[in-house]
Formats: sequence, structure tokens, C-alpha cells
Amino acid sequence: MNRVFELNHVIVKHYLTILRDHNSGTALFRNALDKLGVFLAMEMTAGLAVQPVTIQTPLVKTESLMIKEKVAVVPILRAGLALVRGFSDFIPDVSIFHLGMYRDEATSLPVSYYNKLEEWPEVDSAIVVDPMLATGGSAIAAVSALKSRGIDKISFGCVIAAPEGIEKLQQKYPEISVTACSIDDGLNEINYIVPGLGDAGDRYFGTV
Ligand code: PRP
Ligand code: URA
Repeated sequence: MNRVFELNHVIVKHYLTILRDHNSGTALFRNALDKLGVFLAMEMTAGLAVQPVTIQTPLVKTESLMIKEKVAVVPILRAGLALVRGFSDFIPDVSIFHLGMYRDEATSLPVSYYNKLEEWPEVDSAIVVDPMLATGGSAIAAVSALKSRGIDKISFGCVIAAPEGIEKLQQKYPEISVTACSIDDGLNEINYIVPGLGDAGDRYFGTV
């Protein structure tokens, strides 16, 4: 698979274990997902465009770099909200564009309930975040909403991805890179990721 990145850090593996364990209650689960958002943000922002600046240190004038790319992080509600903090803590002046979508339990298709993209400021790039990339339906709907708003530079970040979802997303949008903390084995008969972690939104928000 091209343009697919899986994080390989022992701390990521540690917090993934906590997320996957069905004995982890809401507080543990929430803390682990928050932590993984930081690792995803670090990985996905490493190549942001920069500009040279001249600054004066207490000792001398020196050339340095500052981020010039105007970035939007785009959480797919609800669960995507869990990953925003990791990005907003580090990217200066990041915009946060919310997209509301849930997966219909019977069809596994995404149902959109919130999209006000046309009212939001111009950006150079967008990073869509959602803990789970399962069938890929929600990711495709989010990317297509951003494309119809004229945003072409888009990447997708998640905690757990199913190979089926990556393939479906990249079949439709080959240019979209996918960064995941883990690429799992696949989907079960009700389109949950295996081994997975269950329902990310319910576990993070304590609504199980
Ligand atoms: C989950 C998850 C993704 C979607 C992934 O959301 O957070 O948005 O399912 O599945 P897909 O790749 O098959 O589209 P869910 O519908 O549970 O909504 P929630 O975040 O509000 O709990
Ligand atoms: N959404 C989740 O929260 N978990 C899955 O395994 C699949 C979709």
C-alpha cells in the first residue's frame, strides 16, 4: 500500500494495549486516546511547509524557520474530537472544521448531520482525524466534503485502520495518505475492526 504509514513506537504500542483491553474503563481509555493523538499529530505534521525568518537571539542574529502552512484539523464527530487536542496544541493558528457523521448500524453507511464547511476560512491543507477507519465510508464522505470546498491537500489520521477501509479510501482518492497507530487484521461481519477496540466514541465519551 502506498502512502500508508503505521506508527512504530513503544509508547504507541503501550497505549494501544490499554485502548484494546475491554477492562479499561472510561478514564483509562480517554487518557490513552488523548496520548495517541499527540503521537499522530507529531507524525502527521512533520512535513508542514515552513518559511525562513531572521530572529535576534540574546547573542546574535540568526536564520530560523517558522510554519507557514495554514492547516485545518477536521475531526469526524463524535470520536474524532478525541484527537483534536494533540494537533491544536502544536500547530500554530490551526483551524478546526467539524464534520458530524455517524455510521448507520444496519447499513454501515455514513449519515451526515453537521457540515458548515462553506463558512470557514481558507486553508492550505486539511488533516481529517477519526480514531477508526473501518469500511472507509465516513473517511470518503469527509474527504469528498473537503474536496467540494476546494481543499486538495488532505491527509487522514486514525488510531486503528482496517486494510479494507484504507483500500476503499485510496481507490477513490489515491492521493490521500493514511497514518495509523495500528493497521489491524480486518473487519468482522458487522463491520467492526478486529482485533480493534470496540466502539471508540462510546468508550471515549462514556456512553457504552
Ligand atoms: C465510528 C468511527 C468512524 C466510523 C468508522 O463512528 O468513529 O467515524 O465509525 O466507520 P467506517 O469507516 O465504516 O465509516 P460512529 O458511527 O460510531 O459515530 P460516533 O463517533 O459518533 O460514535
Ligand atoms: N467504529 C468504531 O468505533 N469501531 C469499529 O470497530 C468500527 C467502527
